[in-house]
Amino acid sequence: MAFSEKQRKIFRFPYTDYDAIICDGAVRSGKTSIMSLSFFLWAMGNFNNCAFAFCGKSVGAVERNIVTPLLSIVYLQQNFDIRYNRGGHVIIARRGKRENRIYLFGGKDESSYTLIQGITLAGVLLDEVALMPRSFVEQALARCSVAGAKFWFNCNPENPLHWFRQEWILKAPEKNALHLHFLMDDNPGLDEATRQRYKHMYSGVFYQRYILGQWVMSEGLIYDMFDQTENTYREPPPAMKSTSTRYIACDYGTSNPTVFLDIYDDGECIRIDREYRWDSRKERRQKTDQEYADDFMAFMGDDPCTVLVDPSAASFIVALRQRGAYVREADNDVLDGIRKTGVLFQRRTLLINENCAGLLDELGTYMWDDKAAMRGEERPVKQQDHGPDALRYLVNHLPDWRFE
Ligand SMILES: Nc1ncnc2c1ncn2[C@@H]1O[C@H](COP(=O)(O)OP(=O)(O)OP(=O)(O)O)[C@@H](O)[C@H]1O
Ligand SMILES: [Mg+2]
Repeated sequence: MAFSEKQRKIFRFPYTDYDAIICDGAVRSGKTSIMSLSFFLWAMGNFNNCAFAFCGKSVGAVERNIVTPLLSIVYLQQNFDIRYNRGGHVIIARRGKRENRIYLFGGKDESSYTLIQGITLAGVLLDEVALMPRSFVEQALARCSVAGAKFWFNCNPENPLHWFRQEWILKAPEKNALHLHFLMDDNPGLDEATRQRYKHMYSGVFYQRYILGQWVMSEGLIYDMFDQTENTYREPPPAMKSTSTRYIACDYGTSNPTVFLDIYDDGECIRIDREYRWDSRKERRQKTDQEYADDFMAFMGDDPCTVLVDPSAASFIVALRQRGAYVREADNDVLDGIRKTGVLFQRRTLLINENCAGLLDELGTYMWDDKAAMRGEERPVKQQDHGPDALRYLVNHLPDWRFE
């Protein structure tokens, strides 16, 4: 393996006077892999009978991102006796008479929080630290009381007001931390095809963060890549493969509007053909679940399809199922749904019929909540977001490979 200059700095870090290292930046830029290898060599070269920690978002994430890749490195297999005890979430590593243990913790796993409170550590690696609760990270750092202990952090950029940037990256000199900023070019193992594949997975603020490696605020229009001409069509609808699948996505409200979107997906291109919308405030009349379910059946017609519904709309889901509709509760992951929807708009593979006026209006005013962003939180403004919500339910239902 050849290493980039920045990666070599990770290998040199343990032998400098720095107490901590922070690697932030783009995805796939070679942070985690080199950091975990350097950490392992440092731990085994300088300590005996000590405990260390590998922390990630969850124990499963640490197994996937750190343990499995580390155990597959031939050099380590040839020079160390390394065993991973899956039940105990611990790596036991030996070389000659020397033995150390590296425990796995998940910042979002309830059990990890109590377990890490009792342990004494000689070093901790926090992988994707910006995704962990601050209290967990501080607890992990507080456990590092062995002389010569060091902190190892890595993450992708988030909101610039994120506590980890404020407390660690901006204060790196006073914390005596070495800060290295990574881009995909710092990973010599990345071929051009992979680099392009990742570039196509992000757009908007997510592109700036995960590809350009910038800590930027989510602000303004969410779908700024949406184009009034390129992302819309007029009747007759553009041709699709004959094997297309139909869906109806529903966002349900009682005092807020209820929206149904009629969707055709041919595996490549997605068309939003029609919308149904009832705004009880505008109409000055609320509809019951039974009335909405009747409207829905009329909207669907005699070509039944998978129906993706707002998971919080329990009573409406019951009413639809009573009428024989095949309902799936939608995945309501907001940020991931927005990221994926942005990718499809950017590629012009998500097209909306111009007659879906309500949806088009809402997409044009779907904004990031600037006030929430100032508190380091990321979310859209909660108003006129019913069409975009329904659209997200459809997009979150598609398999991951559609966004690569
Ligand atoms: N010097 C190298 N030579 C060959 N392959 C490398 C090198 N450095 C990293 N890689 C490989 O590149 C891929 C991405 O590296 P890594 O997972 O360390 O990136 P990362 O910066 O942690 O990404 P993310 O932010 O997505 O977690 C991995 O498969 C890793 O094994
Ligand atoms: Mg990583």
